Amino acid sequence: MISYRRGKLHLGGLSARGLAGRFGTPLYVYSRETALERLQSLRGAFKKLSPLVCYALKANSNRSFCRIFADEACGAEVVSGGEILRALSAGFKPGTIVYSGVGKTQEEIRLALRRRILAFNVESREELFAIEREAARLRVVAPVCPRINADIRAGTHPHVATGEAGNKFGVSPEEALALVQDANQSRWLRVAGLQSHLGSQISSLKPYEKLLRSMGELAADLRRRGTVLEFLDIGGGFAVGYEGGGNVLDLRGLSQIAEKTMKACPGARLIVEPGRYLSADAGALLTRALYRKESFGRRFLIVDAAMNDLARPALYGAKHPVWAERKGGKREKTDVVGPVCESADFLARGVWLPKTMPGELLAIAKAGAYGFSMSSQYNSRPRAAEVLIDGGKARVIRVRETMKQIVGLET
Ligand code: LLP
Repeated sequence: MISYRRGKLHLGGLSARGLAGRFGTPLYVYSRETALERLQSLRGAFKKLSPLVCYALKANSNRSFCRIFADEACGAEVVSGGEILRALSAGFKPGTIVYSGVGKTQEEIRLALRRRILAFNVESREELFAIEREAARLRVVAPVCPRINADIRAGTHPHVATGEAGNKFGVSPEEALALVQDANQSRWLRVAGLQSHLGSQISSLKPYEKLLRSMGELAADLRRRGTVLEFLDIGGGFAVGYEGGGNVLDLRGLSQIAEKTMKACPGARLIVEPGRYLSADAGALLTRALYRKESFGRRFLIVDAAMNDLARPALYGAKHPVWAERKGGKREKTDVVGPVCESADFLARGVWLPKTMPGELLAIAKAGAYGFSMSSQYNSRPRAAEVLIDGGKARVIRVRETMKQIVGLET
């Protein structure tokens, strides 16, 4: 995705300067090739199980970007009615869409039932009954999967841990058993499988090992009671390496662990829900330096992208690699900050970069996941444009917002 050619920064094989000149900055740039490589590498690691890969749309929900995975027969993991509509219009088949989230509204449940999605990942007893009510109204049978919270510490940032006691997601294994019994009593509900999602950016196999053990035991228990599952969905959360490489998850190791569990669940298919793993490396945020500044002995490089464009450093202290426009030269330690009026507005802190002058470009790498999709218009900053590079050609897949569009919604 990012490289230097003849000492100059290139994204997806095209010159950063050329891209910035054509499309302006800040600019999200994605590479279709890298996205496909990530998918291949995931499928390679899980070759023996050939799971249904349900791409987690929230990581990057641009329709043209999602279409890359839809065209490769992936399914989708969605968390709102909006994401169901996006997934369908990006070309995902309804029968490959799994729907999670603790707060599904009546309208959203109806939409999902009408479109015949693969499964509802059910997060509470009240939700189960809400789904039953709507299914009965529409006279269709709703496929449900209790979402298990097995209280497993994933060793990740607290904001992105979802499978531990004390957070709002899922139900305990005991409660899941009770939900299955409830569902089995209803002619409008069909238990299709079990689902869980431990959290995000998880680099250790241990939590997955515990999860698979717990899901395997529950599945065996259900089988003894006469409920045979069509699938086991272990969620996503597979870590990628940010600054300095970091720890990445051993996907082959995960596949081996899953193989054991799946053997004990004859007839069931594995589902995985990766978001970041497929999209992070396939995107970068291109930004232009505006000013240099030194204050109380600290050096700042002020650029035209900010926390409204990429919230991850401010929200989670995430460390995205930063690439300067020119390779080499004397390095200096600097904070890369944006124009937003918050001290949390930084894209990188204390990083060593080749001296960068106003007008020069920087690429914030691994920004394809939870970059644009979490962006906002805070400080009345229209959201960045998005460009997809495919076969050496760049095309706009979302135009830059204008202030006219934004204020046009206000009365
Ligand atoms: N499945 C479910 C039910 C999820 O809630 C999520 C992410 C995923 C799959 C995909 O997780 P992934 O493979 O991308 O880790 N904004 C945060 C990440 C929040 C993830 C929320 N759930 C960040 O920028 O790090």
